[in-house]
Amino acid sequence: MIHIPKSEYSRRRKALMAQMEPNSIAILPAAAVAIRNRDVEHVYRQDSDFQYLSGFPEPQAVIVLMPGREHGEYVLFCRERNVERELWDGLRAGQEGAIRDFGADDAFPITDIDDILPGLIEGRDRVYSAMGSNPEFDRHLMDWINIIRANTHRGAQPPNEYVALDHLLHDMRLYKSTAEVKVMREAARISARAHIRAMQASRAGLHEFSLEAELDYEFRKGGAKMPAYGSIVAAGRNSCILHYQQNDAVLKDGDLVLIDAGCEIDCYASDITRTWPVSGKYSAEQKAIYELVLASQEAAFAEIAPNKHWNQAHEATVRVITAGLVKLGLLQGDVDELIASEAYKAFYMHRAGHWLGMDVHDVGEYKVGGEWRVLEVGMALTVEPGIYIAADNQNVAKKWRGIGVRIEDDVVVTKTGCEILTSGVPKTVAEIEALMAAARTCAA
Ligand code: GLY
Ligand code: MN
Ligand code: MN
Repeated sequence: MIHIPKSEYSRRRKALMAQMEPNSIAILPAAAVAIRNRDVEHVYRQDSDFQYLSGFPEPQAVIVLMPGREHGEYVLFCRERNVERELWDGLRAGQEGAIRDFGADDAFPITDIDDILPGLIEGRDRVYSAMGSNPEFDRHLMDWINIIRANTHRGAQPPNEYVALDHLLHDMRLYKSTAEVKVMREAARISARAHIRAMQASRAGLHEFSLEAELDYEFRKGGAKMPAYGSIVAAGRNSCILHYQQNDAVLKDGDLVLIDAGCEIDCYASDITRTWPVSGKYSAEQKAIYELVLASQEAAFAEIAPNKHWNQAHEATVRVITAGLVKLGLLQGDVDELIASEAYKAFYMHRAGHWLGMDVHDVGEYKVGGEWRVLEVGMALTVEPGIYIAADNQNVAKKWRGIGVRIEDDVVVTKTGCEILTSGVPKTVAEIEALMAAARTCAA
């Protein structure tokens, strides 16, 4: 399995600590276990910031980073080993494992945190934490601070500055290292196979969930623990619902099916959309819309390179799509005026992409100082233009209604442009039709 090496977690902690103010402390909790219903838990997914700094996969843990601390800069609070619990729920690293396998300088039982952590915070001027995102943890943090405050008459020194950690940490996460790109390539490769498998399985009479099952099969077979987000399998008019997740309608001959799905490897997401005809052949109208979306995506790729700004790719898709919709008679008027009035939003209502990484909609600012961010090597993003013509849109000729097309790929900015991580899935009309025809011949 391809994964982030241990050395990288250590490098990240050092890089973060190098940016922290002197005499400060950073405190981050692991994700909580989410209950699905009585005695049943959701599949555990570590918090992305916590994972980024530790690679530690367990709940009930807290990272403490104290740059310059003589007795160790990285302290991990985690669950103790427990023979009985481990018999039921699986192995735990324990404090020994936290040090031996996860690089902690020191480790304590999580049950001792109220006794130990105030002492670690005491005397530090500044506390970095993800304020606001976890109210329960914020309350704990205040409790620990109040323990110190209660002792000021004995000379205890509570910190006097509280700083949001996100600003530093999320900027680090925005730039993907070689190891991260490797893991993202792997997630993309598995997801590409999943889309191909779903294309090959596509038949009228099946349900949307039948194709979702094909995706899940490849995800799990590739070693992914779970999809990076709820898979969207949207056939016919459902393709015009942007975050459709019901996935239970019947696939009909003559309809398109839009699949937006990607798996997660070592907590790194992939995010792919392809749209194909259920029965293997695009109609003239479907093909016209599809090729327009594809042309807009190609135009966007050309705008992704160092020194281009974040919005250039989006602007490119807007121009190509608006001009194309005018040509097809779906919009009327002057292209520049239609762009200025955002007339295209009736058909293309979302942006061309988002940052991609540990979170499918990854962290990182899109604007800096009020200006669109300039792209740099290692930034990862999606490119996902679409056109959606609702089935009840009375403003267009009937033949166009119910067509929804999105094409989405994942890219990483390189020195000369960008690397498309998800190019393993066929994309042109000819490629998709050929793949589907071949699958039918084999099945016949
Ligand atoms: N799958 C969510 C998105 O494409 O943004
Ligand atoms: Mn997507
Ligand atoms: Mn996306």
